[in-house]
Amino acid sequence: MKLVNGFDLMEYAKKHNYGLPAFNTTNLEMTYAIAKGLMNANLPGYIQISSNNLRLSNPEIIAQIARDAVKKSEVPIALHLDHGKSFEDVKACCEAGFTSIMIDMSALPYEENIRESRRAAEYCHFYGLPVEVELGALRGKEEDVVNEADCKTDPDMVADYVERTGCDLLAVSIGNVHGLCLNPEIDIPLLEKINRVCKVPLVLHGGSGIPKEVIWECKKYGLIKINYGSDLRKEFIRTFGEAYEENHNEHDVIHLSVDSVENVSKKAQELVTMINEH
Ligand code: G3H
Ligand code: ZN
Repeated sequence: MKLVNGFDLMEYAKKHNYGLPAFNTTNLEMTYAIAKGLMNANLPGYIQISSNNLRLSNPEIIAQIARDAVKKSEVPIALHLDHGKSFEDVKACCEAGFTSIMIDMSALPYEENIRESRRAAEYCHFYGLPVEVELGALRGKEEDVVNEADCKTDPDMVADYVERTGCDLLAVSIGNVHGLCLNPEIDIPLLEKINRVCKVPLVLHGGSGIPKEVIWECKKYGLIKINYGSDLRKEFIRTFGEAYEENHNEHDVIHLSVDSVENVSKKAQELVTMINEH
């Protein structure tokens, strides 16, 4: 199947009451692994890459690999720009064939966040692509972006923010964290309040480390997309790390790369299956 438009993916998820995992990739192996995990689970989701991870590659390369990785899929898979840090990255990903976009201007003051997010949303909508934005800030480490501020999403700002940005998905800060160094403390009552006033589906970043029961509970309150980065990166790094610990002369890159695809795909399959058990 071709990469599926983000709007179509969300419609499919709503129709079947699926939660959609968005799995972060960095390279060729993880991209193929994510597609394999979703295909083996026969469940839909996103391959996504953040601006910070587009250093060793570029949107065209990632889109080309993703197109090849999903071509045998019978489940819909979209390619999403995660934490898009600039309008230039957004434009490049639209041009490269990404099918869903996040513009993350959450570090800017409110009015600037709105202005930049709206600019990106209007651009992406000409490509027919849905746009995710973020209101509030997550603590933790997202690659080399470390944020200490725990600024939860204010329900009183949601309706204005969603309306004025023209977004199609809203990433929320409800005690979720990026990375594995901090423990998430998910505020379900806050998510319920946000869902009541938000006209677009919600996104939970920092999926790694959140107990399955909490994910299932969050799905009751407008959650459609759950981001996972660290859980998969750990599997990729573990594959090579264990081999090196066993043999410091290890140099068989191709076999370890193939093993890494297997290990990461198993984790992706496990997570997408868990999300949709309830
Ligand atoms: O945007 C990416 C995700 O929020 C990654 O979060 O590494 O805690 O799973 P995680
Ligand atoms: Zn994130």
